[in-house]
Parts: sequence; structure tokens; C-alpha cells
Amino acid sequence: MRIGVFDSGLGGLTVVRELRSLYPSVDILYLGDTARVPYGIRSDATIRQYAHDCASFLHSQRIETLVIACNTVSALALKELQQEFDFPVFGVIEPGAAEAVRSSQGAPIGVLGTLATIDSGAYVRAVQERAPALELITCPAPLLVPLVEEGWTEGEVPRQVIRRYLEPLLKQGIGSLILGCTHYPLLKDSFRRELISLGHEHVAIIDSGVALARQLKKLVESHTNTQQSMHDKPGELAIFVTDAPRRFRALAERFLDQAIGHVSIVKL
Ligand code: DGL
Repeated sequence: MRIGVFDSGLGGLTVVRELRSLYPSVDILYLGDTARVPYGIRSDATIRQYAHDCASFLHSQRIETLVIACNTVSALALKELQQEFDFPVFGVIEPGAAEAVRSSQGAPIGVLGTLATIDSGAYVRAVQERAPALELITCPAPLLVPLVEEGWTEGEVPRQVIRRYLEPLLKQGIGSLILGCTHYPLLKDSFRRELISLGHEHVAIIDSGVALARQLKKLVESHTNTQQSMHDKPGELAIFVTDAPRRFRALAERFLDQAIGHVSIVKL
């Protein structure tokens, strides 16, 4: 089975990591639109255009399923991509919202995301469809994406930025926190440490990419004859970017903790 995955940059690799660990025999084609990252500060129309470009490229590579490993695109362009292409298209918002409703035990849900994701109200709608009475506290956290793209995921600088974004949410008594941007799970350890040091270790951290990867189980199984064959031959990982392949490769290898071979540059 060939799954296409795309994100504006590096963040979608958090979804790839999960997909590879759950479905090792699946072939994954990953596109990071590194020439145009970040998406989250752009207008809705621009984000939709970028989403179309990325999906069209992966379509040309004969993928069978598309995973939008970007909250911003999932929030703004999921329906359009589902209408445009004839393969199944999945986004990260619905699985993340479902997981948060399950974990929050009636307490408010905190959501951090890009400006575009928060402004779209996509998480609010997705949670309220499932639990109309649940309160959401949402907050854009735009400084976190450049930290991740820079590889600054540990230490004093991310710690202080995370604390600044967390404190107002914690004051509202949140029971779970949606990391509503696929870049943020790269900071998950720093988030966890901050929650502990602020005395809120009970807050569940929700990684929408992980929730999405789990949701694909039935689909992947239906493409493979038996459970056994899901683990037979290791799947391939092909990586494409729109700029700076060497830099991407170094960060990606560090993050995926494996050699990833050639990173191809493409023009969209
Ligand atoms: N990975 C994107 C997301 O999940 C955030 C990065 C960006 O702004 O492009 O929303």
C-alpha cells in the first residue's frame, strides 16, 4: 500500500513516525513544502492553494491514500481535497478532537495551534459535535513552529515559550491539551516536563497525528491480506521537499532516529 503524507515542513514526520511503527510494511511518500513553510500565518486562500499543490504532486506519484499531516491544512482544506481526489483523504483534526473528548473527563480542553488553525474554529466544531457541553480554551502558539524547524526542542528557550502558552490554559483547569499542530509533538517531552513542574501532570497531552495513525488501522488491514503480511517486507520511505533537502535530511534523521537516504527536491 502507498500512503502519501504531506505537511508544510518537518512537523508531519511526527505522523510518519507513528505510521511506520504501526504499519511497517506500508510504503510512505512524504512531502514537506519547506520552500513555503510556515502555512499557519497565511490566508485561507493561500493555504488552500498550497494544499492543492501538495496533494496533486502526491497524486502524480500514484498514492492510494492521502494523509494531511498538517493541522492548518486539515482545518482549512480537508473537504476540498476529499472532493477533488478519488482516493481516501484523512486529516488530523477529527481524530485529535475525538481523543481529547475521551481523555478530558468533562474538564475543559485546551488547544494550541497555528493562527490559521485556531481562527478556523475547526477544533471547537469537532469537539462540540461530540460533546456540545464541553468547554474549549484555544490559543495560537506561533512561536513554537520556528523553534522546531530550527531544531530547538529542548532547553531553556522552548521551556519558557511553552510555559508562557500553557499558564493561561492551566488557570482555566484544562483536563487535556491538544497539540493542534504537527510540529508541536516534537516538543512533547518539554511540554510534559513543564506540566509536571507547574503541578499539572494529570493533564493528558493529545497528539492528533498519533490519533490519526491509529484510525487508519482498518484501512491498512483491508489493503493487506493478513495481519502477518503487515509485518512482512519493510515498507519504503521516500521523502520529497521543495527546498533545502540537506538541512531537512539532517533534522529528519535526528527525529526519526534512522538513516533516510536521499531527499529529493521537487517543484510544485
Ligand atoms: N505543521 C503545521 C500544522 O500542523 C504547522 C506549521 C506551519 O505553520 O506551517 O499546522
